[in-house]
Amino acid sequence: MISGSTWRLPAAELELAPAKVNLALHVRARLNDGYHALETLFAFTRFGDVLHAEAADDWSLRMEGPMAHAAGPLDDNLVLRAARAFSEACHSRQKFAFRLEKHIPVAAGLGGGSADAGAALRLLNRMTGAGLAGAELEAIGAGLGADVAACVRSKSCVGSGRGEQLRAVNALTGLPILLVNPRVAVPTGPVFRGWDGVDRGALGADYRTARNDLEAPALALQPVIGDVLAWLASLEGVTLARMSGSGATCFALLDRLPEIAVPHGWWSASSTLL
Ligand code: C5P
Repeated sequence: MISGSTWRLPAAELELAPAKVNLALHVRARLNDGYHALETLFAFTRFGDVLHAEAADDWSLRMEGPMAHAAGPLDDNLVLRAARAFSEACHSRQKFAFRLEKHIPVAAGLGGGSADAGAALRLLNRMTGAGLAGAELEAIGAGLGADVAACVRSKSCVGSGRGEQLRAVNALTGLPILLVNPRVAVPTGPVFRGWDGVDRGALGADYRTARNDLEAPALALQPVIGDVLAWLASLEGVTLARMSGSGATCFALLDRLPEIAVPHGWWSASSTLL
């Protein structure tokens, strides 16, 4: 038996960073600062990155995993930016060595960097004992990127404003989802800039009859996205095929995950919604 006096917290801990999927995304207006007012239904998958942290004398980050090569300069990484923002907000002097297993493709509409930042904020909140409330942690996240607050939460929610104003909704827990990316990186800014400025209306209660207004500008930059959508829509048991975020990853919601192989050269992940 472990007695209370000898029990010690483990020196290293891990946190899952679920991939973010926009089940629907309505762009409503262009704002003065270059951002866009939008309404989106965020969902999260069991598939994602894994972030490990260990108390250390200085901050560091090591990348591993199949997508580590694409993740860009370490100094700019949202994990370290989240860590700096957290320490400032909490006046914490504790430092950590991070190890990130990168599975989520980069610049893919799955919020990879935002998911890692969300995981870092949750992990630091736990390991430092700071005990910030969810809303406080989400506010720190919102300062790091439009969808980081949602990723701090990592639960189904509707985002409005720039994506950072969150309202909880019922989750579609357990629903099978297939993610497919044609292995083209699509930067978010240019896709938003390609939006035609037409407000096609509010996000209603049913995401299935909703849209992703970024599909058209993303398709204009990467027509192969149309092939991915057509392939997903042709699968047996598919209830919805749509692009996530600014692309290029598209998803299919299905009765059950298909057994057929994804076309050669495309990246894919089979998962379920959280
Ligand atoms: O906030 P984040 O760094 O994730 O946003 C990346 C880019 O996506 C922004 O620089 C902006 O061009 C675009 N964006 C937008 N409107 C939003 C969210 C993102 O125009 N609501």
